[in-house]
Amino acid sequence: MSKSILSAKAVAKVYREAGQEVAVLRDVSLELAVGERIAIVGSSGSGKSTLLNMLGGLDLPSSGTIRVADQDLHTQSEKARSRLRNRELGFVYQFHHLLPEFTALENVAMPLLLRGDRRNVATDAALEILAAVGLEHRTSHKPAQLSGGERQRVAIARALVGQPSCVLMDEPTGNLDRKTAEDIQALIERLNNELQTAFIIVTHDMELAHRTGRVLELVDGELLQR
Ligand SMILES: Nc1ncnc2c1ncn2[C@@H]1O[C@H](COP(=O)(O)OP(=O)(O)OP(=O)(O)O)[C@@H](O)[C@H]1O
Ligand SMILES: [Mg+2]
Repeated sequence: MSKSILSAKAVAKVYREAGQEVAVLRDVSLELAVGERIAIVGSSGSGKSTLLNMLGGLDLPSSGTIRVADQDLHTQSEKARSRLRNRELGFVYQFHHLLPEFTALENVAMPLLLRGDRRNVATDAALEILAAVGLEHRTSHKPAQLSGGERQRVAIARALVGQPSCVLMDEPTGNLDRKTAEDIQALIERLNNELQTAFIIVTHDMELAHRTGRVLELVDGELLQR
């Protein structure tokens, strides 16, 4: 058995809105091995972002457990959960969530500065990964001065810069043309090969999905093997 980096057991999520309960996830279990790449697909509103947010510790499930690097996300303090996320996880949001007042370079260096790396070390690593996503010529631009696809690539660089053991990506190539999406795909495969980085990729792009090892579909609050 290969070692697990992330696991979900019987995860459910119910949103309560204005006295109404909406069960988005009913019973989701998932085991992601070190260095594994999987895709999650499903129709709009099926709960893909909801699931990814919980796997990444950005939101907590209504019931069930999520473990990252053998630690239970649910039972951790907020501070311990942040530290675990910073160390083990990279996250690419569906809507990039870059810090508007900082440049591309500063946005990408941020996870390293937060973990206590020296500024020159963080800057060098940020420059290298920005070059890898094809943005060496946009490092001093702020998010508002970047195109949608460029912002998306800055967000991808930010998720990868700390060499996390697992990267969760919500529609990473949704804003990108085919060529740029190919480059990002190649980068994902390179990190996967060289560093054993695991990836969970939420996508509508079936070509991208099928280049992972396993495609799962979210249907009626459950994750099915496709
Ligand atoms: N904070 C919230 N409060 C109440 N309901 C929510 C909340 N967030 C999401 N939902 C509902 O949960 C369902 C799943 O949303 P989610 O964003 O996870 O879907 P998705 O599969 O990512 O869709 P898309 O492909 O459009 O991104 C939707 O019906 C949405 O309205
Ligand atoms: Mg979504």
